Amino acid sequence: MSSDANKAVLVSHLLVQFGEFKAVNDISFSVDKGEIFGFLGANGAGKTTSIRVICGLLKPTAGEVSVGGEVFKGNGDNLKKKVGYMSQKFTLYDDLTVAENLEFTASLRKLDQDYFEERKKYLLDFIQFEYSEKSFVRDLSGGIKQQVALVASLLHDPEVIFLDEPTAGVTPVSRALFWSLIQKLADHGKTVFVTSHYMDEVEHCHRIALMRGGEIIALDTPKGLKSSQFPYGIYQLTAKAEDITDIEKALQRSSEVESFQPHGIHYHLAPKKDNSWEKISPLILPRFTAKKIRPSLEDVFIKLVEGKNR
Ligand SMILES: Nc1ncnc2c1ncn2[C@@H]1O[C@H](COP(=O)(O)OP(=O)(O)OP(=O)(O)O)[C@@H](O)[C@H]1O
Ligand SMILES: [Mg+2]
Repeated sequence: MSSDANKAVLVSHLLVQFGEFKAVNDISFSVDKGEIFGFLGANGAGKTTSIRVICGLLKPTAGEVSVGGEVFKGNGDNLKKKVGYMSQKFTLYDDLTVAENLEFTASLRKLDQDYFEERKKYLLDFIQFEYSEKSFVRDLSGGIKQQVALVASLLHDPEVIFLDEPTAGVTPVSRALFWSLIQKLADHGKTVFVTSHYMDEVEHCHRIALMRGGEIIALDTPKGLKSSQFPYGIYQLTAKAEDITDIEKALQRSSEVESFQPHGIHYHLAPKKDNSWEKISPLILPRFTAKKIRPSLEDVFIKLVEGKNR
């Protein structure tokens, strides 16, 4: 374990209430410097609300938050200097050019002109921006807009960057490019805090916190989450005949089965115990073809987040 001095973010017993409703309910965790930390959870789980507090934008109801050793005080202005924030929606003005958007952000951050010009050049090179700075944002593709929004959030050289669903609604190629930038930021020592609903891309996070109903229900590396949730692996089953209603019910009720869930055209079955597969396979194999597969984060998510609400 690294000491607190190495922590980029510390959150202790954070509570955020809107009236009686607890949007964030007593969460505690820390993020190391240089870590890519993912926040995963269904809609309304409390991800954005937590981020707004850590960025100094929303005063917590209770609990303590610190970024780079600086504890949330007063209106949170002391934290705003330390963090970059790319909010969930597009944060650029469509009817301004790239240069005008960046100048606007620099003026809000009260950046010195020379420093701004130097950072702008460095960051546009960093994202390998190939267009004119005079391009209107409305003429850029969604993926490039997101990259320019990233540049805007990095102008003041923050220690920690919060990216709230930065790749929502962009093409798979743009998503991959954006994640290569996230990786590059971490390689440069920046701490990246990111939320996403895409399970494939959160695999790139060093650690992931899973949120449900305002609480953190699991926090580990992607590998750790998979092995702790599915210690006996997963079997991908493909039905040989169409009607499997009877066996579906039997499997869902079986004390040897941890979970049995539809997964596209297949089913994913997680055995409950070490010898469960041996016990249930005589029941399964006449009706399904079976293949042992590695659990994915999607399996973890379905089990912990979606499965519980069914
Ligand atoms: N200002 C507010 N007043 C009242 N309720 C709020 C407010 N902001 C958020 N909430 C509620 O708090 C809960 C958590 O919202 P939040 O935006 O943090 O979720 P999220 O995990 O970011 O979801 P999504 O994946 O949809 O972005 C939701 O039920 C939301 O409606
Ligand atoms: Mg959100």
